[in-house]
Amino acid sequence: MKPVQFPQDFIWGAATASYQIEGAYDEDGRGMSIWDTFARIPGKVENMDNGDVACDSYHRFREDIAFMKELGLKAYRFSIAWPRIFPEGTGELNPEGLAYYDALVDALLENGIEPVCTLYHWDLPQTLQDAGGWENRATVDAFVEYAKTLFRALGGRIKTWITINEPWCVSFLSNYLGLHAPGNKDLQLAVTVSHHLLLAHGRAVRTFRELGIPGEIGFAPNVTWMEPYSSRKKDADACKRENGWYMEWFMDPVFKGEYPSFLVKWFREKGAEVPVLEGDMELIREKIDFLGINYYSGSVAKYGEQAGLMACEPVDMGYTRTDNGWPIYPEGFYKALSYIGGRYGDIPIYITENGACYNDGPDRGIVADQKRIDYLYQHLLQLHRSIGNGIPVKGYFAWSLLDNFEWAFGYSMRFGLIHVDYDTLVRTPKDSYYWYQDVIETGEV
Ligand code: NOJ
Repeated sequence: MKPVQFPQDFIWGAATASYQIEGAYDEDGRGMSIWDTFARIPGKVENMDNGDVACDSYHRFREDIAFMKELGLKAYRFSIAWPRIFPEGTGELNPEGLAYYDALVDALLENGIEPVCTLYHWDLPQTLQDAGGWENRATVDAFVEYAKTLFRALGGRIKTWITINEPWCVSFLSNYLGLHAPGNKDLQLAVTVSHHLLLAHGRAVRTFRELGIPGEIGFAPNVTWMEPYSSRKKDADACKRENGWYMEWFMDPVFKGEYPSFLVKWFREKGAEVPVLEGDMELIREKIDFLGINYYSGSVAKYGEQAGLMACEPVDMGYTRTDNGWPIYPEGFYKALSYIGGRYGDIPIYITENGACYNDGPDRGIVADQKRIDYLYQHLLQLHRSIGNGIPVKGYFAWSLLDNFEWAFGYSMRFGLIHVDYDTLVRTPKDSYYWYQDVIETGEV
């Protein structure tokens, strides 16, 4: 097939997150986070793995940047560990924690790589959790202070900011399904958390504007796409709910200043209400500069009475699956982007994450991960198709630069373009790394 060409100024990047790569969990004054706690509870994380050492990027970031440079990355998306900046969540700033990100940002810029910073990628300071975590509005105040500190310290050098990564995971996966820290199973709690996250996002955006920080700011919801199995209304409604749970639930408040009524009603029937106070929605709808999208998987699906909170049941159409069992559904990427473009208009989009889990390891220095290349290729083709249809996608961040701590799956699931040996911490670029290097160089897939 003839290659397709991406725009000249397209931003090619890769992404990581603090708890997943940094390690050095008790160094230079870092406080404990909810993931340090969660990972220590037997049964929560595969093999009782934790992020104490992870990829040791806290100490090896210069080596990692050398790999990024060699790869040709235009931008690197990383996250800041809140407990390094404020070990107690609020109050006393920890200068050594800040110094780490200061050095990281400078080193990226020296190497011609744009730093793209996520403020919250799940490592909430444990002290804040002890006081109620995201259920408590005081956590929103604390987040705004934390964000303000970083805007002041790193604003100007960092031009692209992401407030919250995957609010669906922070609220529902962590507080309704109980699979991520802090591991609660309570729908009302999850709905409350989702509202407070949006509020934290909106208030941080407003603060960014008030301080007059140059650059752009947005947030990064994770989306999926469920395509109705039949034209039966029940199947279409089930898919609409499931898709809306990831998209409209978080995007409508930000872009339209209101929650989607069909989901408000659905949650109400299950006994949960959104705790909206006067003025909240105005804050949440503070204008953003771009929308980040994380996309991995989707499926054809139908109504299923017992099929989870949204009564939506995936139908296996014979999909090939990645090593963590997610169906490969590149078409869903295109469909989700078309839907978002149609509903929210001309907002610039970055694909803040897309990638695949394959656990291939090195053999005589080579990691032959052709399946990851195929996955990335299929998704980039769909992305190109979306851009051709007028969806203003400005950049793409592969997840992930490195194999890393994959949350509840610990180190058993690998998403990296670079293999990490967790005993020696040796990095080995995979075949996908060299393939992506070529994509970046030519702008073609
Ligand atoms: C989304 C999350 O943001 C990231 O932390 C995670 O590792 C990847 N998805 C893969 O599951």
